[in-house]
Amino acid sequence: MTVHDIQQAKQQGERFVMLTAYDTLVAGIFDRVGVPLLLVGDTSGEVVFGYPNTVPVTMDHLVPLVQAVVRGTSHALVVGDLPFGAYQESAEAALAAGVRHLKEGGAQAVKLEGGRPVVPQVEAMVAAGIPVMGHLGLTPQSVNALGGYRVQGRGPAGEELFADAQALQAAGCFAIVLEAIPAELARRVTEALEVPTIGIGAGPHCDAQVLVWQDMAGLTSGRLPRYVKRYADLGGILEMAARTFAEEVRTGAFPTDQHSYH
Ligand code: KIV
Repeated sequence: MTVHDIQQAKQQGERFVMLTAYDTLVAGIFDRVGVPLLLVGDTSGEVVFGYPNTVPVTMDHLVPLVQAVVRGTSHALVVGDLPFGAYQESAEAALAAGVRHLKEGGAQAVKLEGGRPVVPQVEAMVAAGIPVMGHLGLTPQSVNALGGYRVQGRGPAGEELFADAQALQAAGCFAIVLEAIPAELARRVTEALEVPTIGIGAGPHCDAQVLVWQDMAGLTSGRLPRYVKRYADLGGILEMAARTFAEEVRTGAFPTDQHSYH
């Protein structure tokens, strides 16, 4: 899978998906079923490392996860997220972080959050041969400035987001994530852009959809955003497996002769 395949999917009106992945085994499963894009997201800060949000995540957290995902993948295009603090300062900082994801991690592309203010960063990476995915709307790295996880792009802010999307495309982004924005705005952006939009809480009109895999597979618990659909109950299955294992050891039902060496 290449960035050209992703662009072609839009031209041919084919909808596709992206899933997050943070380890070899899960990446391998998604790769086998044909998920074309795997994002090693800074959501790993929450679902892998247990931070309250994505702000503490660094390149040193993400590069080993990118390596693990790449090792489990033979077809999917792996996108390494640029974490908070790795690119905001300058185009040079973005370029250095992007190079790390490709050179050390083995990713084929990177993602960063923000609109017109990050155009110099996008341009520097694209000029260096690094495919870049944009991310607009609810940008979780800015949770402190946004005052929480709220829907973005309502009212006049929609025009700003539309201009940001155009600017990211002009700067060379090959795709743009649209997070938590009104479906009508996502449709307008999707119809106006030549590059695909990848929605998460952005309604049904985007070219593609992305979910955090633990949300999609029912591993996360507690109150989830409205846009999450659970396709399995992995949390329940794991709980049952752990309980049964403990019970069988307590009662002596495991291990049996079948699980022993002689
Ligand atoms: O970091 C991440 O996983 C993301 C997705 C939710 C799009 O940015």
